[in-house]
Amino acid sequence: MPNFDPEALRAAAESARRKSEMGSNATDQLAPQGSIVIAPDSPAGATVDLTTTYMGLRLRNPVVASAGPLSQTLDGIRELDDGGVGAIVMYSLFEEQIRYEDARQTAIEEQGSDSFAEALSYFPTTPSNESGLTRTYLSLIEKAAPTVSVPLIASLNGSTTGDWTNTARRMQDAGASAIELNVYYVAGDLHTPAREVEERHLDILAAVKQVVSVPVAMKLSPYFSSFGEMAGRLDAAGADAFVLFNRYLQPDIDLDRMAVVPGFGLSGSDEAKLPRSWIAALYGRVGASLAATTGVETVEDVLKYLLAGADVVMTTASLVRHGPGHAGQLVDGVTSWLTRKGLTLDKARGMLAVPSDVDGGLYARSGYVSGLERAKKVYGRN
Ligand SMILES: Cc1cc2nc3c(=O)[nH]c(=O)nc-3n(C[C@H](O)[C@H](O)[C@H](O)COP(=O)(O)O)c2cc1C
Repeated sequence: MPNFDPEALRAAAESARRKSEMGSNATDQLAPQGSIVIAPDSPAGATVDLTTTYMGLRLRNPVVASAGPLSQTLDGIRELDDGGVGAIVMYSLFEEQIRYEDARQTAIEEQGSDSFAEALSYFPTTPSNESGLTRTYLSLIEKAAPTVSVPLIASLNGSTTGDWTNTARRMQDAGASAIELNVYYVAGDLHTPAREVEERHLDILAAVKQVVSVPVAMKLSPYFSSFGEMAGRLDAAGADAFVLFNRYLQPDIDLDRMAVVPGFGLSGSDEAKLPRSWIAALYGRVGASLAATTGVETVEDVLKYLLAGADVVMTTASLVRHGPGHAGQLVDGVTSWLTRKGLTLDKARGMLAVPSDVDGGLYARSGYVSGLERAKKVYGRN
């Protein structure tokens, strides 16, 4: 690669960023540490407007509670609202649970059918009470949506096409402001072609979009050969937002028990780097909104995602660790930082995304090579 010069590309990227992202108010220079010097946008003391549009929904701020354990009860949802989040994504209703309950209902209607017991054995989960998980979920939306001050987003989680996707319509009718569709699919069959995996995502999205009129966000895995193209196809197919990324819980090995054990545990800030890189790469290149999920613990984590181009920044781990009130602290921290920098939220958002006139592949490669060069200097023995 004779003309490839990572440092030159980096300089070009930074120059393009200054020109395209910072506008004419920006001071066109880099600080010695590499930080960007900017001329203040808003006068000192001005209130910072954090209102955010996320897939057409108007939010009071960009910090959102992602799907998780704190939204399983009415009290939990109210606490998240009181804690200061801009929106709440409820815990997921799973395809397997919906299928199980549908099979159970069919068996009841066709009493005496021998196939019922066998059918039940295929499903990994069972309803926790007589009314069933779907009914419980819908009734929670019905009770919570009118009482909270922020949009309530229902989460539907599956990996195949089928009638279970119609539940999205029931979620909408119960009062959900939007649907977050989590396609958590691992191509465990080693012969599954990549295109088939991609088509499956498109088919599930199409099935859900067909039955609802509220916005549909897709929560995705990063594990596509060409994630950018996949995002482009889902964008064209009507995805209203991308939630990046699903946190895959790979199993571990317990050496004492000599057993494979389920992956478990809360995220750390370092895990934000992968979703942040893709948000920076997609910013300005898709019509769908961009939601960041994974690795948010501090105000700095939220700010980095916003600078990369996230419309909203989601968190579960930090709210589990510190309680729902932590959301308010994150929001206050964002306000303080923007005030200190003299920036509006809109101006800051995407400021450090991949510049629009830079080749994304070269940009990523340049970061990789520069990183290795730096690591060799820091850790090398000579
Ligand atoms: C206890 C727990 C339960 C979760 N339940 C769901 C769920 O029902 N549906 C879903 O899409 N994600 C679920 N998640 C994943 C989170 O929404 C989030 O994407 C992930 O935890 C990464 O974000 P974080 O670093 O802020 O925790 C859960 C996470 C945790 C820790």
